[in-house]
Amino acid sequence: MSNDRHQGSARGGGQPAVIAIDGPAASGKGTLAKRLAAHFRYAHLDTGKLYRGVGVAVLRSGGDPSDAAAAERAARSLDAAGLDDARLRTAEAGAAASKVAAHPGVRAALLALQRDFARRPPGGAAGAVLDGRDIGTVICPDAPTKLFVTASVEARAERRLKELQASGAAAIYAAVLQDLIERDHRDSTRSAAPLKPAEDAIVLDTTHLDADATFAAAIAAMTSRNT
Ligand code: DC
Repeated sequence: MSNDRHQGSARGGGQPAVIAIDGPAASGKGTLAKRLAAHFRYAHLDTGKLYRGVGVAVLRSGGDPSDAAAAERAARSLDAAGLDDARLRTAEAGAAASKVAAHPGVRAALLALQRDFARRPPGGAAGAVLDGRDIGTVICPDAPTKLFVTASVEARAERRLKELQASGAAAIYAAVLQDLIERDHRDSTRSAAPLKPAEDAIVLDTTHLDADATFAAAIAAMTSRNT
């Protein structure tokens, strides 16, 4: 599989190549981001983890994720190296993340870290893959490659249910579906950097695609656009 920009042309001492991936929860964007990063040997940043880290920090301190001042304080003191905590992957952390993410002060506090990652990918990588909700629209609006990964809310709920069950968590479909509907609503109707495709994004609907087919579709779309 070839792709001109990502197979070397951006490495001649210029800007690092950036792949911006956005989409709703459980759309498959995280798996795709990891696969593309491994394929091109780029560094990968799951930006949802930053918001989850802030949400969990607020909960740990006994605060309310809807409280802008508490959330902003947590965002300013976030330890980006300490985001491997299993609690970050829980449904509770996802809901808290979606609440803290609506505060403009939280988003501002996390902006430089994300842009620095894209400008200077760690480990000397020639490029970076960032996935989240506003990468193509706000964090890296000049990224040459933007993907918007989506799927029906029912397909996403099935996937999230399987993930939760595989991790040993008790979960029922109706509750997972409801959680995603609420999260989609919060993430796409907030005034600060709402979830939406960038105008120049390639939209991939993964409702009927597994991880391999999603990866193949992304590479094919990038190659035909030559991004
Ligand atoms: O991708 P995720 O489920 O880990 O994200 C958790 C929440 O964080 C999501 O509901 C909205 C927020 N988020 C955001 O607002 N902007 C990002 N770039 C990434 C995540």
